[in-house]
Amino acid sequence: MEKIVVRGGAPLSGSVTVSGMKNAALPILYACVLVGSKCTIENVPDVRDVRMSLDILAEMGAEINRIADETYEIDCTNFNPGISCSEKVKKLRASYYLMGAELGRFGKAKVAFPGGCNFGTRPIDQHIKGFETLGATVTTDCEFITMTTESGTVADDVYFDTITVGGTINIILAAVMAKGNTIIENAAREPHIVDLANFLNSCGARISGAGTDVIKIRGVKSLHGSTYAIIPDMIEAGTYMAAAAATGGCVRIENVIPKHLEAITGKLEDVNVIVEELDDAVIVTGKGLITSTRIKTRPYPGFPTDMHPQMSALLTIAHGTSIITEGVYETRFRYTEELRKMGADIEVKGHTAVISGVDKLHGAKVQAVDLRAGVAMVIAGLVAEGETKIYDIHLIERGYDDIVGKLRALGANIEKVVEEE
Ligand code: UD1
Repeated sequence: MEKIVVRGGAPLSGSVTVSGMKNAALPILYACVLVGSKCTIENVPDVRDVRMSLDILAEMGAEINRIADETYEIDCTNFNPGISCSEKVKKLRASYYLMGAELGRFGKAKVAFPGGCNFGTRPIDQHIKGFETLGATVTTDCEFITMTTESGTVADDVYFDTITVGGTINIILAAVMAKGNTIIENAAREPHIVDLANFLNSCGARISGAGTDVIKIRGVKSLHGSTYAIIPDMIEAGTYMAAAAATGGCVRIENVIPKHLEAITGKLEDVNVIVEELDDAVIVTGKGLITSTRIKTRPYPGFPTDMHPQMSALLTIAHGTSIITEGVYETRFRYTEELRKMGADIEVKGHTAVISGVDKLHGAKVQAVDLRAGVAMVIAGLVAEGETKIYDIHLIERGYDDIVGKLRALGANIEKVVEEE
């Protein structure tokens, strides 16, 4: 069993380079199925969800070559749509992009229900509604979603009842080669949606409006391969920003798009942290005293739900009482139980965590209950007195490229240890 062991107390200092964005890399890898010829994808993060997605694609006939550390050639010419039911499909959230990609290219798909982090129920009704609007007949049983069309998808207007990142991506994938013009209304505006649209446009798609809540897609007959570099991961960047602030350190975070970090930067400045924006880097300096704040997570450009647990970890040692309201998921508070084991004073009331700052956290044995919850334990461990042991670290590795190595280079006392069962 692998665990991360952190001994807290050292302020982080130095510079860290952010990897490509996991949540952009994943749809772009599945979009290669739609493209159906050789693509070269650069700045691909070396994280577990990406490796599992590459395995799924390879099992289904994609030819994949890693031509440099972060660069892959992916050729889906001989991709076999078959039934996607491997255990990997069931463990990943992003495997649901097979639905849009296969439907868009082959006019049919049969895919097992996706997995992913457990934040309560994570319905896909909006994806299905969108596929049906584009002419698919969709049936589901307890294991599979099956979609068929007579001869491919047909463009139409798709209105989402709720803002959904995955739904927006899936409908873009299904509509790129549909007959006619599709308009997606109430679309998600996340930077990774823009990245996917830019990648597909580099392959011959005609998508406009990505980054706004109305996306227009003119159906094209075919796509061609291209070379494309994935944008930096704003959540990984935000995580190092929160860690620098919590330890009272000073860290230069390289390879970022400061615009994507505005909501995070604004909140850190609110709590007495200095953030200096450069062209493609930010320098975060913790001044020691963290003050309290209120946060409500929302879809982009609001404060990202994927930064909620990391901000909670920071606010456990703030002066005063902070309130974090979760505005995207029904429940994302399982991590609070783990922080309490370290001496945090957090109470959950409905969709809100009330965090009363304490002088110190202390080391403890804690679980990574999901990806971002796990990394919140790392941040808490960096500031706690004594030793923190974090278990189930495979969940952290789903989305963080070499987190232990990057934090060690910033002076953290952290290691990955294999423990006998
Ligand atoms: C993606 C990200 C995840 C992030 C989330 C919100 C990936 C692989 N995952 O997840 O890290 O936390 O965006 O930024 O990119 N909903 C419905 N019906 C649907 C679809 C969604 O009710 O058909 C609800 C969800 O339950 C949730 C909200 O809409 O409450 C947002 O979900 P969505 O944006 O779809 O998240 P994911 O794409 O699953």
